[in-house]
Amino acid sequence: MKYDFDTPIDRSGTDAIKLKRCPEIFGTEAVTPLWVADMDFATAPCIRDAIRRRLEHPILGYTTLSDDFLALTQDWIRSHHAWEPAIESIGFIPGIVPALSFAVQCFSQQGDQVIIQAPVYYPFFNVVRNNHRNLVLNPLKQEEGRFKMDLHHLENAITERSRLLILCNPHNPGGRVWTREELLALADVCHRHNLIVVSDEIHADMVLPSSPHPHTPFASVSDWAAQHSVSFMAPSKVFNMPGLISSCYIIPNPALRRRFTSFLEASELGNGNLFAYIATEAAYREGEEWRCQMLDYVQENIHFVIDFLAREIPEIIPMNPEASFLIWLDCRNLGFSNTEELFCFFIQKAGLGLNLGTIFGQGGEHHLRLNVASPRSILKEAMERLAQAVSTRREGLAG
Ligand SMILES: Cc1ncc(COP(=O)(O)O)c(C=O)c1O
Repeated sequence: MKYDFDTPIDRSGTDAIKLKRCPEIFGTEAVTPLWVADMDFATAPCIRDAIRRRLEHPILGYTTLSDDFLALTQDWIRSHHAWEPAIESIGFIPGIVPALSFAVQCFSQQGDQVIIQAPVYYPFFNVVRNNHRNLVLNPLKQEEGRFKMDLHHLENAITERSRLLILCNPHNPGGRVWTREELLALADVCHRHNLIVVSDEIHADMVLPSSPHPHTPFASVSDWAAQHSVSFMAPSKVFNMPGLISSCYIIPNPALRRRFTSFLEASELGNGNLFAYIATEAAYREGEEWRCQMLDYVQENIHFVIDFLAREIPEIIPMNPEASFLIWLDCRNLGFSNTEELFCFFIQKAGLGLNLGTIFGQGGEHHLRLNVASPRSILKEAMERLAQAVSTRREGLAG
């Protein structure tokens, strides 16, 4: 490998959320933090070099998008996801979570219903509830250890007040890469009920080598889907630069796009910072080799964890992700009476800080989410500590 993912990097002193919020989240600093979804790997060198080059100029003044920014984004989507949205349908947004909230405000009214499919990335709940929309859950099902959308339940859950469905594509925390057929079937239900689909595709470029199929942008599955959806993508997750806050919307329908952009403009929210622009261009121009090697490394980490659990801690059943560096762990068989107890066991007995499953909503009970985007040595040590803690617990339960 040309890039080094093995050497641990000390993030202390950088105000990294992963470290700084440990006392608040886990009640202690003394955990190996395997939670918030960024990577402990050095950000792709081409990005750091581009920022360094820009810093040689002494003025960091107001800066607009370069002439190439949108074309590079369009080209990336075309070459990686077999979809060619028109350049005018693409625009910059300062973060996907804020954009989800803008979309909720823009395409629904207070009291309308917004549908999400839990368990799912927890800000989906916040952007609905905090904007005073009614949250409707369409819980995901599990079949053969993978999440599936329950379209029969969805059909019954939709009412005349339903306006939007927020889709996590690929899915966090389950790592599902929804297939074209699954997305077409979803589009069919949404079409019949005239819903707008807001598709969060931040993990699109994190599809793993072992995935049986590529990422499919929701908007690419049919003309109806293109004309009735709002998609969000970003280089931030895959190139490990979420601190720079760079993402884009893709809205092929001119009327929807006007509504969304006029909302952004009215709130003066459409601009980013110059490092976000520079980093995105560098990533899309020169980052592919780093991305592929990072995905290979993450894939090996996933294999390592899944093999280790099967061998040493078969009580914990991991969901094998098709995308992302996150593993959804079913810990029911460890026998804790609730998810909080399980979470505390990981902290206090194994010294590990994972995400609590219940923050992802219904279906998260007795689950934790593990972030494996760390050097393998750290992951190995974490798994060994966990095996030791579980072994002591087994002896306690037996004795
Ligand atoms: C599904 C999903 N959407 C959005 C985000 C965050 O997006 P942003 O940092 O652009 O707000 C994450 C981060 O983990 C995520 O998993």
